[in-house]
Amino acid sequence: MFKYHYFETLDSTNDTAKSFPPFSVIHAGRQTKGRGRMGRSWFSLDGNLFMSIVVPQPAVPSDYSFLASLSVALTLAPLSPRIKWPNDVLINGKKISGILLETAPEQSDKLIIGIGINITACPDQTLYPTTCLKDCGVDTNAKVILDKVLQNFEDVLTSYQKSGFKEIRRKWLEFATGIGQTIHVRLPNKELTGIFNGLDEKGALLLTTPEKEYVLTAGDVFMI
Ligand code: BTN
Repeated sequence: MFKYHYFETLDSTNDTAKSFPPFSVIHAGRQTKGRGRMGRSWFSLDGNLFMSIVVPQPAVPSDYSFLASLSVALTLAPLSPRIKWPNDVLINGKKISGILLETAPEQSDKLIIGIGINITACPDQTLYPTTCLKDCGVDTNAKVILDKVLQNFEDVLTSYQKSGFKEIRRKWLEFATGIGQTIHVRLPNKELTGIFNGLDEKGALLLTTPEKEYVLTAGDVFMI
């Protein structure tokens, strides 16, 4: 379904992906200016996986955050991964994968799904503790993992097209971490602490604080 393109070095696979048509996959052996969520950098250590999937602009782009994180979680299933809302994948409570959805402002016809997975090296000095497959005892390489992520993404996309978001949400929740627990959410303009009460039907995070019920569509979640 997807056409694979490999580059030895790129600034950001998400940038390069913007000049490719839907159903392309961009893979970089090295990434020099990786971007993360919320305007952060993505520390792109050599040996790790940097990939971007290009899809036609969907009606509900945020659904793809769940499709992508579910695909990564399924890929890492033997390691009992958890997904931390909205799309971080964790092993043993440490972040192993991050996902960044972007649309080029002048190209609203496609959505770019950038996926980073730590394979051989764990960045430090990050917002969250990190791990990598090597530290989990898995000896593999970026291309092997890319092929598995892509196969899972194709399967998840087919399920989404057939059965809709409800089914994706259900499978995603099987991997979710923190539901029913007290969490801390950092928003651009405030910090909230409350009970993570699951997701609404669109995938927004439901947070109950002593003051009110929040329905959050973005933010950094920290387990307490
Ligand atoms: C995050 O958790 O902050 C999201 C990280 C996304 C990183 C990937 S690596 C491949 C793609 N290219 C980028 O510049 N970013 C994404």
